[in-house]
Amino acid sequence: MMKLRDNMVTIAMFGTGYVGLTTGVCLAELGNTIICVDIDAQKINNLKKGILPIYEPGLDKLLEKNLDKIEFTTDGAQAIKNADVIFIAVGTPSQSDGSANLDYVRNVAKIIGKNIESYKVIVDKSTVPVGTADMVRDVISTYYSGDFDVASNPEFLKEGSAVDDFLNPDRVCIGVASKKAKSIMLDVYGNMPDDKIMVTDVKSAEMIKYASNTFLALSISFVNELTQIYPNHNIRHVTAQMKETINQKGFFNIGLGFGGSCFPKDVKEFLHTFNVNGIESEILDKIITVNEKQKTRFVPVIKDKLGNLENKKIALLGLAFKPNTDDMREAPSLALISQLKSLGAQIIAYDPIAMTEAKHYLNDSIEFSSNSLETVDGADALIIVTEWEEFKQLKPEEIESRLSNPLICDGRNVFSEDAFSQVTYIGVGSGKQKMTDEELTVVFNSFFNTTALYKDALHQLASKVSANIEDVIHGMMLDSRIGPNVFRE
Ligand code: UGA
Repeated sequence: MMKLRDNMVTIAMFGTGYVGLTTGVCLAELGNTIICVDIDAQKINNLKKGILPIYEPGLDKLLEKNLDKIEFTTDGAQAIKNADVIFIAVGTPSQSDGSANLDYVRNVAKIIGKNIESYKVIVDKSTVPVGTADMVRDVISTYYSGDFDVASNPEFLKEGSAVDDFLNPDRVCIGVASKKAKSIMLDVYGNMPDDKIMVTDVKSAEMIKYASNTFLALSISFVNELTQIYPNHNIRHVTAQMKETINQKGFFNIGLGFGGSCFPKDVKEFLHTFNVNGIESEILDKIITVNEKQKTRFVPVIKDKLGNLENKKIALLGLAFKPNTDDMREAPSLALISQLKSLGAQIIAYDPIAMTEAKHYLNDSIEFSSNSLETVDGADALIIVTEWEEFKQLKPEEIESRLSNPLICDGRNVFSEDAFSQVTYIGVGSGKQKMTDEELTVVFNSFFNTTALYKDALHQLASKVSANIEDVIHGMMLDSRIGPNVFRE
């Protein structure tokens, strides 16, 4: 139940990418006044007309609803002067050593330092390594000697359901260093139920984000690795039992691995943080290795069934890294296409939303189709890469009748084997063999050993970077996809 607003806050939001834009629009929905700032004048002009630079379900309608509370501008200096709170939501791309590039964050801090004239709370919203708030404080202090606070308010939004995640969160995590900053941040989230708000120190908040994302990536790689170790077993039964045991909702879906702008980048950055702090963690390395292997797991299967792939026509349904987004960053489809093409295969692909974006990555190296069934026409094999709802609605018999060769590799378990009568259907982790009780015990022990190792590594890191480990673990477990029972005491 939403509370009635007491205080409305004026917020400057630097960055109108996925995070900044969604956060800005949703904070307006919570009753705040927002000034969205971006250096890209074209983007700002479009936003003024209600044209969004990204595809995110529900965001256009929410923007329209809150237009009276949102201003779009390229004038950062003025926005800083007018705001009570300044959010930094600019990009932090990965560098070759895995660390996040903080140049954009540093630039915004500099602009703030040069233009701030009175007390403000500056909030790191971008996913930034532990210690970034200190850096932001130092940069601002170079130019400004007055009072201000730097807070950390990590986002836990999933692309494709970001609006709903924002408005109905598992938790809102606020890391602050003063009572004044705490009170202002509680005003910002004044319309959010109290039991959703978790207040910590700044470093713990920074660490919770990485600890959570890395853990989620770890759980995906754990179950995907099971499909590599036990190729003939039904792993989907096993993951169902695991979810029940640890009381975790919505994750552990096996498939062609994770992509996107967050998990791959955040795992690498977290690994980098462990390394620079002299903490060894084998399991973190493995998250990425397993994931890379998983993206192309069907290539040997297809080679086995079709022999030489030279000029064989392979149809791909789905290009985006997951459904309900047009985001192609680190999409498993890219690694898969690259490997199939290197073996001489001809690729034809279709994605309901991501094709324009995909063309920036693939140019004319593959053929793009205009609908699902046309993609499958005359193909030697079909690979389902993204679990779009549209694909779930396809009639199995129509797919079968259009394929020139009867092979379907279902990378997201959209269908099941019994849906098809005339084709060889291969899912991920949907082998026929059932795990024995002994094998199940081994898997469960291995999972809990892995989570214990992870927790131990977090302990070591928290003590090095002066974060509160209890808060970090608590903040992780509040995520319903991680759950309260992931660590066996
Ligand atoms: C992820 C986190 O889930 C968010 O909580 C976080 O805020 C966000 O990163 C971020 O750091 O900004 P996102 O990358 O949008 O969100 O997408 P997810 O839905 O988590 O999926 C990530 C990848 O994992 C996708 O490729 C998806 O297909 C894959 N995945 C997800 C699986 O393979 N199995 C699953 O069970 C879940």
